[in-house]
Amino acid sequence: MIKISQILTQAKYLAANPDETVASLGSEHGNFSQTYKLVINGQYYALKSYSAWTPRSKIQRKLGLAHLEKNVGGLAYRLRYPEVSESGSENVKLETTVLKNWKEAQIKAPIIIAKDKNNLLLSFIEGESYEQIVQTGQYSRMHQDSLIKKIRQIRSHAYKTRNSYQLHNDLVLPNMMFDGHEAIPIDPALPFKKELGFETLDASFNLVFAYTLISPMYGYGSSTHETFDYILKGFLQTLDVSTITQMEELNTPANRFEIVYLKTTNALFGMNPIYSDFIEIFSPSQCRRIETELKKRVRKQESQFLKL
Ligand SMILES: Nc1ncnc2c1ncn2[C@@H]1O[C@H](COP(=O)(O)OP(=O)(O)OP(=O)(O)O)[C@@H](O)[C@H]1O
Ligand SMILES: [Mg+2]
Repeated sequence: MIKISQILTQAKYLAANPDETVASLGSEHGNFSQTYKLVINGQYYALKSYSAWTPRSKIQRKLGLAHLEKNVGGLAYRLRYPEVSESGSENVKLETTVLKNWKEAQIKAPIIIAKDKNNLLLSFIEGESYEQIVQTGQYSRMHQDSLIKKIRQIRSHAYKTRNSYQLHNDLVLPNMMFDGHEAIPIDPALPFKKELGFETLDASFNLVFAYTLISPMYGYGSSTHETFDYILKGFLQTLDVSTITQMEELNTPANRFEIVYLKTTNALFGMNPIYSDFIEIFSPSQCRRIETELKKRVRKQESQFLKL
C-alpha cells in the first residue's frame, strides 16, 4: 500500500517543478479542488487535493453560492454553505463512500489508492471527460449510448437498496469520462442535504444533468443542436414517470435579474465568471426547454398507457 504522505511530498515537489510527469487536470469549472496527473513507479494516478484550494474571492463566493443554494433547476439539494467545511474533508469522505459503493456494485469508477483528510489518490482513467468530447465535436451515438447506459446502471443499483450514497451526487457532463469502451463516473463529491429522500435526490441529480446536457457552458452549441435535443430526449426516456413528475416540480429557473446582477458584479469587481456562467445554465429559456421535454415525456407515457 502506498503511503499518502510519501505521495503528497512527491506531488508537492512535482507541482513545484512542473515537467511532463505532473499535469493539472482540474476542469475549468472546478472550485474546490485541484486534480493532478502523477507518475509513480511508471504508473499514472490522479491526485485530487482539496488542501490546495483557496477561495478566489470570499465576496464572490458568497454572492455566487447564495444563488446556487436557491431552488433553481434542482440545485437546492446541495448542502448549504457554510455548512460544508472549506477544508474539503467532507467532500473527501463523501467521494470515498460513493466510490466504494460503486466498486462493490461493480460499476467501473476510479479506485481509491490512498487518502488522507484532504486528498485522494485515485487510479487514473485513460480517456476524456464528456465535456471535452462534446466541446471538441467528437460526440457520437456511441458516446451517447454509453452515457445513458452507465447512468441507468448506477441508478438501478441504487434503487435496489434506495441508497442515496450510490447515486451520482454531482451528475454533470465533466464528471463523466469515456475510456474508449464505456462511460466512467467520477467526482461524486458534492455534499447534499441528508434530510432529502432518495427519490427527491435522484430527481434533483437528473434534473441538473438534463440542464448540463443542453448547456453552452458544457459544450452544447448550434453544431450539436440536433444531437443534443436527441440526447436530452434519450436521457429522459430512461426515466420513469414518477421521477419525471418530481423533476417537473423541482424545475424552477434562475431569476433573470439575479443573473444580470451576478454578471455585473463580476465585471465590476473583476471576479471569477464561474458563478454567473453556472447560473446561466438555469436561465428561464433553458428552463422552458427542459419543461417542454418533461411534459412531452409524460404525455408519451400516458398515451402508451391508454393504448394498452
Ligand atoms: N481518476 C481520474 N483519472 C483521470 N482523469 C481524472 C480523474 N479524476 C479526475 N480527472 C480529470 O480531472 C478533472 C477534474 O477532476 P474532478 O471532476 O474530480 O474535480 P473538479 O470537478 O475539478 O473538482 P470540484 O468539483 O471539487 O471543484 C476531470 O474533469 C477529469 O478530466
Ligand atoms: Mg468535477
